[in-house]
Amino acid sequence: MLGRDGGGGDDVSAPSGVCPVVWLNGGFGAAADATVSLFDRGFLMADGIFETFYATKGAVIELDRHLARLASSAAYMRLRGLPASPVLAAAIRELLARNGLSGPTGGEASVRLTISRGVSPDGPPTVAIFARQLTTAQIEKRSSGVLGFVLPFTRGGAARDLTTHKTLAYLASSLGQILLAERTADPRAEGFFKDEDGSLLEGTASNLFIVEGGALVTPPLSQGILPGTSRAVVLLLAREAGREVREERVDEARLRAADEVFVTSSTIRLAPVVAFEGEPVGGGALGPVARDLQARFEAHIDGLVAAERAAARA
Ligand SMILES: Cc1ncc(COP(=O)(O)O)c(C=O)c1O
Repeated sequence: MLGRDGGGGDDVSAPSGVCPVVWLNGGFGAAADATVSLFDRGFLMADGIFETFYATKGAVIELDRHLARLASSAAYMRLRGLPASPVLAAAIRELLARNGLSGPTGGEASVRLTISRGVSPDGPPTVAIFARQLTTAQIEKRSSGVLGFVLPFTRGGAARDLTTHKTLAYLASSLGQILLAERTADPRAEGFFKDEDGSLLEGTASNLFIVEGGALVTPPLSQGILPGTSRAVVLLLAREAGREVREERVDEARLRAADEVFVTSSTIRLAPVVAFEGEPVGGGALGPVARDLQARFEAHIDGLVAAERAAARA
């Protein structure tokens, strides 16, 4: 079985047009046998990079340019333990040869090189290369032309919209956590995203709240944050308790001046932020409002558990 982790279950055959031999983590094998782990971060959070090369008559066009771009993206992404560029170049050429695409009679093909961080944040990365013969439609575009349409978003705008959905494109959070790990090994560390205006938005995996004079303040969804389920519950519980709730921008100065700061997420539930960039915030401890909301949150969860049990008995 080709692949670091082997695999089981049904055979997933390769998509049409993919050449029969692929390269995965240093070895060649059959496309239909090539598997990667369910826990690969490429699958779980789009935590990876790729290049698509064009090959014709056995030559990989602009190979060095592609490999240089790949190396630059790998460095940005802190992807470590990658095969060196000459190893990748040799693998691509050998892959073309094994698929009958080398030499002057070799047809036109695309070669897809995919690198994911692998199963662990520390790697080793998963590295896969496969080739595909170009389709006639692809080749014919050169003469038949392309029909242009305008998309309803900019490329950056689409990325911004993505932050409001829990898509696999979790790269900003993943890379944020990796960069943070370079600063501290403390497992309590959470990175916070800021927008261009210096507003704090949310954590890499949590929503942000502050308490000001008893009122609860949290950045509005319109700032492009993830609509956290725990955020929604905490807002509901706070309103039910008669607490003033405001959805407003929170910059660093406001956070530092707040009486309390806390984050929410499904698994954390509600946790105080006790320090920000090394300085204590929110009194450096769990404050009374957060404590009260924690208790309400716990009671809310207990209620849900009891309801589940009752439903199971019915
Ligand atoms: C970016 C981001 N914000 C907020 C949250 C909190 O969402 P929830 O309360 O639904 O777990 C998460 C959860 O992973 C997240 O990834």
